[in-house]
Amino acid sequence: MTTTSFPEGFLWGGAVAANQIEGAYDQDGKGLSVQDVLPQGLRTPRTPGPTPDNLKLEAIDFYHRYAQDIALFAEMGFTVFRFSIAWSRIFPNGDEAEPNEAGLAFYDRVLDELEKYGIEPLVTISHYETPLHLADEYGGWTDRRMIGFYERYARTLFERYGRRVKYWLTFNEVNSVLHEPFMSAGIPPRDDLTERDLYQAMHHELVASARATRIAREVAPGAQVGCMIIAMPIYPLTPSPADALAVMELDHSNLAFGDVHTRGAYPGYFLRTLREKGIELDITDEDRADLRHTVDFVSFSYYMSVAHTADPDKLVRGEGNIIGGIPNPTLPASEWGWQIDPVGLRLVIDQFWERWQKPLFVVENGLGARDELVEIDGVKTVLDDYRIDYLNDHLVQVGEAIADGAEVLGYTSWGCIDIVSATTAQMSKRYGYIYVDRNDDGSGSLERYKKKSFDWYAEVIRINGGSLRA
Ligand code: BG6
Repeated sequence: MTTTSFPEGFLWGGAVAANQIEGAYDQDGKGLSVQDVLPQGLRTPRTPGPTPDNLKLEAIDFYHRYAQDIALFAEMGFTVFRFSIAWSRIFPNGDEAEPNEAGLAFYDRVLDELEKYGIEPLVTISHYETPLHLADEYGGWTDRRMIGFYERYARTLFERYGRRVKYWLTFNEVNSVLHEPFMSAGIPPRDDLTERDLYQAMHHELVASARATRIAREVAPGAQVGCMIIAMPIYPLTPSPADALAVMELDHSNLAFGDVHTRGAYPGYFLRTLREKGIELDITDEDRADLRHTVDFVSFSYYMSVAHTADPDKLVRGEGNIIGGIPNPTLPASEWGWQIDPVGLRLVIDQFWERWQKPLFVVENGLGARDELVEIDGVKTVLDDYRIDYLNDHLVQVGEAIADGAEVLGYTSWGCIDIVSATTAQMSKRYGYIYVDRNDDGSGSLERYKKKSFDWYAEVIRINGGSLRA
């Protein structure tokens, strides 16, 4: 047992994304999104259209089973639930003038259900699900017109749900645009895609995020708007100053996103990088004014840390969440090679708090693992002590960071119910407290079963972290 340092009102819950849970990819007027043509996640190139092997087309059928699933979240005691709105349900092609009412009505129903249990919604406006038409017709976020399409979409959401939703995130893992352009920002691969194109896309997203923040303040005064970034501590591979410097520079490439979101302008080190690369971005005076609308809080995903070095011979890329990096020889790894580092979570919370002085929200964290469904006394379950250990150890570090003085609003573990993986599009990479009977080959009844971690998390929430083992 540890002395708990979780403040009263700390929000406890879980997180998912529309494309990984909803299914119903073509129902009630939904258009295609980039996810509908990525049957293997990031492992192989896109297909021309949806193919039967794409598990996301049906996913776990949350579109029809949301009430049952939210009831299970409520049973665990969730006080917050993070989900994303599928842009292509609201604007099927992305560039229409009017939204699709059937799509809007679906999220009304989800919000009704959350309200029933007093669960605070935390809504991601764009989570790796750009409408495919915007990718194919405009080249995704490389095109400045994306700002206007996103603005219309965000305004529609704030007007419709602004009275019911307090917490909003503008872009999931916004720093991924530089690493996975198609999934992250709807930028189709092409031979002449340049680094400048990616930085320009980054700029368009940052302006769009700031404009959404401004609009939220106009039309939904109670709203709290946050940015969302991949947090990944980077350790020097050796104590050499050259490695430390390389780490600082790599860290800057991620921190820039938080710096702009919280300070309203590009930091000097970022402008220097562009200068040295000979990149001149199209940044208008209006863009600069828009960027001044900074976020209310900073949210982030945290799964793993990496190492880095200045030595080109040692720069091998290990497995990992989107950004990747050199495997740290001192750390164990998950079955998918993501390195497990609970202390890294405390390091990033402290760093972000000290740097930005904005409330923080841990909106993704968890262990993707293969689970075995077993039957005990006639009840099907999963004995996922490995997941409990992972989550326990990370939550202890959240508590430590809070004890260090950081303001943390809440914690939503990733994939609170088993969902389709983003990077590999597998079902077998499971994160949930709730097992979903669906397999990588698409077979399965879609039945839900509580894992051992279900009761464990319920107890953590019930006594506000008091049951965690230090
Ligand atoms: C984050 C994404 O990068 O990592 C999620 O925001 C994703 O969408 C999560 O699911 C875990 O990655 P994966 O590949 O294990 O599903």
